Amino acid sequence: MDSNPSTLNENARNAWQTLVEHSKVFDETSILDLFEQDANRLQNFSLEAAGLYLDYSKNKASAETIGKLMALAEAAGMKPAIEAMFKGEAINHTEGRQVLHTALRSYTGEPVIVDGKNVKEDVTAALDKMEIFVNQVQRGEWLGFTGKPITNVVSIGIGGSYLGPRVAIEGLRPFWAENLRTHFISNVDGADLAYTLESLYPETTLFIIQSKSFKTQETLANAISARNWFLQEGGDKSKISQHFVAVSSNVGLATDFGIGEDNILPMWDWVGGRYSLWSAIGLPIALQVGMPAFRELLAGAEALDTHFREAPLEQNMPVLLGMLGVWYHNFLGAESYAILPYDQSLENLTGHLQQVDMESNGKTCNREGGTVDYGTGPIIWGGAGTNGQHAYHQLLHQGTRWTPADFILPLRSHHSIGEHHAMLTSNCFAQSQALMCGKSLETAKQELLDSGKNEADADALAPHKVIPGNRPSNTLLMESITPYSLGALIALYEQKVFVQGVIWNLNSFDQWGVELGKQLCDSILPMLRDGDASTAHVDASTADLVARYREANGN
Ligand code: F6P
Repeated sequence: MDSNPSTLNENARNAWQTLVEHSKVFDETSILDLFEQDANRLQNFSLEAAGLYLDYSKNKASAETIGKLMALAEAAGMKPAIEAMFKGEAINHTEGRQVLHTALRSYTGEPVIVDGKNVKEDVTAALDKMEIFVNQVQRGEWLGFTGKPITNVVSIGIGGSYLGPRVAIEGLRPFWAENLRTHFISNVDGADLAYTLESLYPETTLFIIQSKSFKTQETLANAISARNWFLQEGGDKSKISQHFVAVSSNVGLATDFGIGEDNILPMWDWVGGRYSLWSAIGLPIALQVGMPAFRELLAGAEALDTHFREAPLEQNMPVLLGMLGVWYHNFLGAESYAILPYDQSLENLTGHLQQVDMESNGKTCNREGGTVDYGTGPIIWGGAGTNGQHAYHQLLHQGTRWTPADFILPLRSHHSIGEHHAMLTSNCFAQSQALMCGKSLETAKQELLDSGKNEADADALAPHKVIPGNRPSNTLLMESITPYSLGALIALYEQKVFVQGVIWNLNSFDQWGVELGKQLCDSILPMLRDGDASTAHVDASTADLVARYREANGN
């Protein structure tokens, strides 16, 4: 438990201390006790917003806990912090930037001014440009160099320029245009490029180079190799503009690469990479599902944003999710957080949310440059159910570490094959029930006796079958996965991460931690290329690894 958060403001420290005291209640009180104590617990611990239903009754939290968590949120300045983001204050202070991904999905409300200009006008213009392009490609009017329409789109990008678009495209498969298929190349491992391109023809392939900075090593290497492939496989240099477009805030570098200005869709400094799927970085999504569905995705996110901005803290879904996370990580000792979508099309949602959460709040330095003396961002992990049940759920149920979990389920499936969806659903509900209820030694023993074991065998086996229970989870439901509900779902997690960043007094919008690896990579690459390059200045382990690489590759 983090008992003395000296780097928070005084009010927040006081609110924190009351939670430290309050946490002792849960040495004695289980989640099942809480259901017994409050006949209306489910009604009191559930809410709807933007087409999402959240049941947070299976948490180690009473009404008193929620009240104290909201007092902490209040003391940490949650409401003004939310307003500051929406209004366009430069809350990303270490990069001197505003944080305005919410303006990308805001069709309503007041103007948002950056450098004296209403950014919503730029957003509208970018969406209009996207729409013209998307319609041309989808209708088969954007032709490749042999006059054939485009049939395959390859998105080249990494991190936020990849993960969000991938989740949205996979999640929205029932909405796909039939005449187009999207592929992703992200890893600098040549295998990613080679395997993706092996089934494609340059004359019908469109590449989208997705990079806010247009400086990312992996993306540039993949873009150059894709261009080489295009030229080697019959593409003509003069036809590159028919097959390569870019989304970037760095128009200069994109044009240097050879992409005409007309083929560049804009990005802005005030959109963080991991929050960029709502911008033109969503171009692959729009191509695959069409512009009306892309606008629905934005509308779902906007509905969630409106709820986040307007709902009182104690009825605010991202605030509740975020504060429950704070409760577990800072007061009850959880180290990680599992996100478990029960929907195959969302199998990569957890991967996207890893970036959203861990790149935002995986930090030790607070906003003032001091070192925090409390835990910040948790380790996010998980994946699609039911697959995970046959892999890591063993640890969720019986491990010495416990992990709060979010179960995410659409009530209706796009694939009503036999009883599959009912089976998927029963698995989902059973997991959260098992986590909460567990199985006692007595029950385990009785089950063994009932199955025909003798007393001695039942005594020996029963301890192995005990499930401690009292492990918390949330369940998030939606009618079905649609562009609107998926937009709301992703925005919900973005705002949850924001809430936690406010409590932990972090700048959730920079990512300096990834820079050192990039710098060192730039210094190691020449050592790998040139067998004569000195390694005397690097540590012995790295020098040896370099030598082994050189030997294996004959240089
Ligand atoms: O290295 C981290 C990062 O900067 C992410 O924040 C970002 O999403 C990703 O790299 C890709 O960046 P870019 O879009 O500039 O290529």
